[in-house]
Amino acid sequence: MKDTFTETVLEVRGLTTTISGKRGEFTAVENVDLTLKRGETLGLVGESGSGKSLTGLSLLRLVPKPAARIAAGSVVLDGIDLMSLTEDQMRQVRGRKISMILQDPQTSLNPSFTVGSQIAEALALHTDTPRKSLRDKAIEMLRRVRVAAPEHRVDAYPHQMSGGMRQRAVGAVAISCAPDVIIADEPTTSLDVTVQAQYIRLLQELQRESGMGIIFITHDFGIVAKVCHRLAVMYAGQIVETGPVAQIFDQPLHPYTRALLSSVPKLHGQIGRLPSIEGTPPPLWDRPRGCKFSPRCPLADHRCRNEEPPTVDSPAPDGSEHWARCWKPEAI
Ligand SMILES: Nc1ncnc2c1ncn2[C@@H]1O[C@H](COP(=O)(O)OP(=O)(O)OP(=O)(O)O)[C@@H](O)[C@H]1O
Ligand SMILES: [Mg+2]
Repeated sequence: MKDTFTETVLEVRGLTTTISGKRGEFTAVENVDLTLKRGETLGLVGESGSGKSLTGLSLLRLVPKPAARIAAGSVVLDGIDLMSLTEDQMRQVRGRKISMILQDPQTSLNPSFTVGSQIAEALALHTDTPRKSLRDKAIEMLRRVRVAAPEHRVDAYPHQMSGGMRQRAVGAVAISCAPDVIIADEPTTSLDVTVQAQYIRLLQELQRESGMGIIFITHDFGIVAKVCHRLAVMYAGQIVETGPVAQIFDQPLHPYTRALLSSVPKLHGQIGRLPSIEGTPPPLWDRPRGCKFSPRCPLADHRCRNEEPPTVDSPAPDGSEHWARCWKPEAI
């Protein structure tokens, strides 16, 4: 995809989230920097437990309580630093300017209320839609996300819908207020391939209309190749590489990214889920010194195992940002 995007809608700097538990307090999201432009889709990939969902939740200041705490960082959305807002102000921003499609659609719809009333609630909270139009607007949103017979489904409870339909209903709640930014956390994992494709086309269509920025959390490089403009690779709570998708696919800098991509059969054909790499990521409460990937990295030496790696820049030919945190970036 060759689109160029100019206006920054979301700028994240130094975002750090800690978790407290039996093992004391440990860092689960560390010093995350992300930039998202209007109309752009940023893929966030990484193995299970690397901190992708927690990063998304931190952006909305919705980290699981009481275990998690945002310890540092700034999240500037359309010129407003979300970290400086009161909880009341933050409630106004959520849904209206930034919303998240949660990883588990079961938990993001309330089982005790109809789907229509949950869309209506989001609209009532965040838009000027007159009360008497809420139901019609909810039906319209369901129609937008291609739920069949929306006039009937508007009165359905979540358990009366199929998984795919529920996922689209979650999407309807998230987009109902046309936010500037949507974080879609594995929104298609529970869907079959055809419905996945439909759902992704739908998000893209909405994005073209409204210019929203999307952060797409996924394990699936096929989806990354199809829908994402830029990619951020997460490992053990850190972003280890970020850059334009095409550039990263062609010239990954970080050995972890390279390892992820090397097991992907064909970049432009069938691409599967993230393959497994030898070894397992460290538990976040017991991360190694130096580079967090060093115990699994074929290139690691003494320095990698002991010193925090620097950020190495290798801008794309068009000048766009591409960097990795590594002592031995491969493609430079
Ligand atoms: N509510 C919670 N209480 C305690 N620890 C948590 C909680 N939520 C997440 N964590 C921890 O934070 C870390 C990051 O979790 P997160 O859900 O962000 O991973 P992820 O990258 O989204 O993984 P997946 O690909 O499996 O969805 C994990 O080690 C997890 O154990
Ligand atoms: Mg997750």
